[in-house]
Amino acid sequence: TAYELAQSGIDHGPRRIQDRNEAPEAFPREFSNTPDTDPSLPANIAWAKGIAARIPTSELGSDIVRAHTQTTIAELDEALSTAVAAGKAWSAKPAGERADILLKVAHVFEANRGRLIEVAGSEAGKTIDQADVEVSEAIDFARYYASLAPALDNLEGARFTPVETTLITPPWNFPIAIPAGGVLAALATGSGVLFKPARLTRRIGSLVADLMWEAGVPRDVLQLVNLDGSDRNLGQYLVERVDQVILTGSIETARRFRSWRPDLRVFAETSGKNAIIVTPHADIDLAVKDVVYSAFGHAGQKCSAASLVILVGSVGFSRRFHDQLVDAVKSLNVGYPADLSTEMGPLTEVPSGKLLRGLTKLEPGQSWVVKPRKLSDNLWTPGVRSGVQPGSEYHLTEYFGPILGVMRADSLVEAVEWQNAVEFGLTAGIHSLDAAEIAYWLDHVHAGNAYVNRGITGAIVQRQPFGGWKRSSVGTGTKAGGPNYLYGLGHVTPAFTGT
Ligand code: SER
Repeated sequence: TAYELAQSGIDHGPRRIQDRNEAPEAFPREFSNTPDTDPSLPANIAWAKGIAARIPTSELGSDIVRAHTQTTIAELDEALSTAVAAGKAWSAKPAGERADILLKVAHVFEANRGRLIEVAGSEAGKTIDQADVEVSEAIDFARYYASLAPALDNLEGARFTPVETTLITPPWNFPIAIPAGGVLAALATGSGVLFKPARLTRRIGSLVADLMWEAGVPRDVLQLVNLDGSDRNLGQYLVERVDQVILTGSIETARRFRSWRPDLRVFAETSGKNAIIVTPHADIDLAVKDVVYSAFGHAGQKCSAASLVILVGSVGFSRRFHDQLVDAVKSLNVGYPADLSTEMGPLTEVPSGKLLRGLTKLEPGQSWVVKPRKLSDNLWTPGVRSGVQPGSEYHLTEYFGPILGVMRADSLVEAVEWQNAVEFGLTAGIHSLDAAEIAYWLDHVHAGNAYVNRGITGAIVQRQPFGGWKRSSVGTGTKAGGPNYLYGLGHVTPAFTGT
């Protein structure tokens, strides 16, 4: 079954597994030995066959979408006032009680791993391994924020007060982990929550909400708001009325929110244009593996994805890297996510605009090392172009798809300049086994998440809190999955001392 496959042979990469095993004790482990039981196994088999034929058989989540689609201002008003009213009792609970419910959410996610993977595949085209790590990340968020919440009631010399309403607007590319992280963080603080799944992933978003309710999150406190996108005024109406917004999406969306409401309290993770530097002192096998996974995991549809690799130094080294890279990229198994052998899945939407240009057009001086091929409207093979020049359109543009560009710099100094020369600063990587190179790079790179000898996607909750610099971040948020995130979502004021 898809579920068993998901449990058996997934290569998260040795580092990820190692990281999980080494996770500090702060991760509560109460449920870690509970076996997963999944009532949806037969459906998973049907799903795998359906995806192979491009006919998603699973309608999982559709009924919840239907039951929670708001189409009028009056319905939104009701969702808002219900969240405010229910939030009062929720915030009055000891934070430890809210944390207990978050731990139950982790348990319910774990028990429903197969269903979550199934609907992420059928609705968003996520491959099984990519959906699987998302479920793990959602569980990590639940446990981590549960571990942080009790401290909110015991601040030394200060008092924490949550806001009444938080709107969560996650993206379609991480439809499980990102909404789970935002919703659970806001719930942990005691805020009422309005959760608006992305238009393309309403079924999976609705399932995530349903599992939270099943775990004991009060229905009135967590309002699922499925706007169908036909009326943009509804989204604007919500943004104008909530106390704060946790947004993950494009820089354009963040700007639109701010144009609706210039004083908006927003915690926004936005776009990225991310590069990995590889020096001649790198372990080339590891570097190729990490570049390929970072560039083509979920078909490059990640704000954290590697869009560029910058090779440093001699032509000989560059040629050797190219050869291995080309072999690795050509060997990727591309298809609809029918089983674990699919390594790169489809694009969630048919490409257009700049992504289509990136998949089909070269600029002067560039050549295809691996030319992308269109297998069907939304299924493309990966592409690699070399000869990307500093300042070119490819160098500076986020494409959000399965394309990688190669640049060649004369020195590490030049490579870091090119890596930093973009308007975003989300993720960045270096592959080198030379301590002086690594130290130089860490001193000079401008990115929120800087990774050494590792891929640049898949930040691990608590270990690698996630958040960007420059235009990759809008608002005042601290990093998601980090120790200060909950404090940022409420108000911390000095405690009354009686004098
Ligand atoms: N947190 C994700 C990653 O690290 C991106 O949103 O890849």
